[in-house]
Amino acid sequence: MEELKMTPWDVSGELNDSAYTKLVEKFGVDLINEKLIERIGKIAKGKIHPFLKRSIFFAHRELNLVLDDYEKGRPFYLYTGRGPSGKMHIGHLLPFSFTLWLQKTFDVHLLIQLTDDEKFMVKDISKTAIEKYTNENIIDILSLGFDPKKTHIIKDYESAKMMYYYATDVAKHVTFSTVKAVFGVTDSDNIGKVFFPSMQIVPAFLLSALTGQKMRCLIPYAIDQDPYFRVARDVLPKLGYYKPSAIISKFLPALQGSSAKMSSSKEESAIFLDDSREVVRKKLMKYAFSGGKDTAEEQRKYGANPDMDFSFLEYSFLEEDQKKVDQVYNDYKSGKILSGEMKEIAANKISSFLETLSDNREKVKDRIDDYILDPKKIKL
Ligand code: TYM
Repeated sequence: MEELKMTPWDVSGELNDSAYTKLVEKFGVDLINEKLIERIGKIAKGKIHPFLKRSIFFAHRELNLVLDDYEKGRPFYLYTGRGPSGKMHIGHLLPFSFTLWLQKTFDVHLLIQLTDDEKFMVKDISKTAIEKYTNENIIDILSLGFDPKKTHIIKDYESAKMMYYYATDVAKHVTFSTVKAVFGVTDSDNIGKVFFPSMQIVPAFLLSALTGQKMRCLIPYAIDQDPYFRVARDVLPKLGYYKPSAIISKFLPALQGSSAKMSSSKEESAIFLDDSREVVRKKLMKYAFSGGKDTAEEQRKYGANPDMDFSFLEYSFLEEDQKKVDQVYNDYKSGKILSGEMKEIAANKISSFLETLSDNREKVKDRIDDYILDPKKIKL
């Protein structure tokens, strides 16, 4: 079995439960327990997000301190991001849709960073292509429905003056040996990789720096991004800010199953946001890992295992009516629903979701500029 390797720039190896357990230990994050979910549930008036219920968001760093501040009426803000090196797939949306739920639940400001500079330095891709994906990805993200008054986008190249000013504060406190150890940078890597982490750390204190009000920052991400924020937690107190808090997810698995992540570089592993109804259906029918049995007869007799079934899991993320989800779960588990039908149900749900996003894209596509971070316009 290939050993798991994980840096923000390279994920390889098997992503099973034991791999996540090892990462939790190695990275030193805390698991989200029932008590913490209950606490969030109280604030969310009982509406607990399915990603929390299903332990997709499974780990955190000092989330309790953010909740303490919220309950005391002190402001905090959210920060997340995207490296625009290609089209987005539904896995990439996972942290964004959860962030949207957090923004609605807590009614807070949100910074979204697009690391166009990172992708230029790390991948073999032209600046022209990156610029195109940056704008496309922003539209995809905004089509989820973030609050226009409280959502601020940072494009690294475009915001370079402001970003660089603060990035040097970070860079001054991070040694080369830290970058080597945490990011796996080697002597033959380009020097952009050594400096870049400073840029991704800046938004973790930027709103405090720009407004002069010291606030906690909560960062949702999938666990591959943790190295940045481990370093940020060392550096920020030295600059007079709080250590950032984090809420951390597993990867949405590839269609083929949970041992690999959904990845844009493998077309058949992912459902892209612009996949048509027909393509979504075909991909699920052909590739989606099924928790069902080999024959219809066996499945009717013994039922399926919905917890490891790609189609059921994806359906359960998108269906807001918990009663419907429970019904499908029970029917699938008992053998009443067969694998093919489960795939149909999921394909319809995914396609309807993608169609809604596509309609929303039309509404936001000419309004990107309204969301670009303007320090003068921030109203806390
Ligand atoms: P990027 O573009 O690789 O990924 C964007 C976000 O999606 C998460 N992610 C996934 N989540 C679930 N399932 C998957 N299969 C999957 N693949 C990727 C990533 O963890 C990330 O949260 N350097 C970053 C951009 C960035 C950022 C941030 C991300 C800048 N600031 C702050 C998170 C928080 C990047 O290239 O992400």
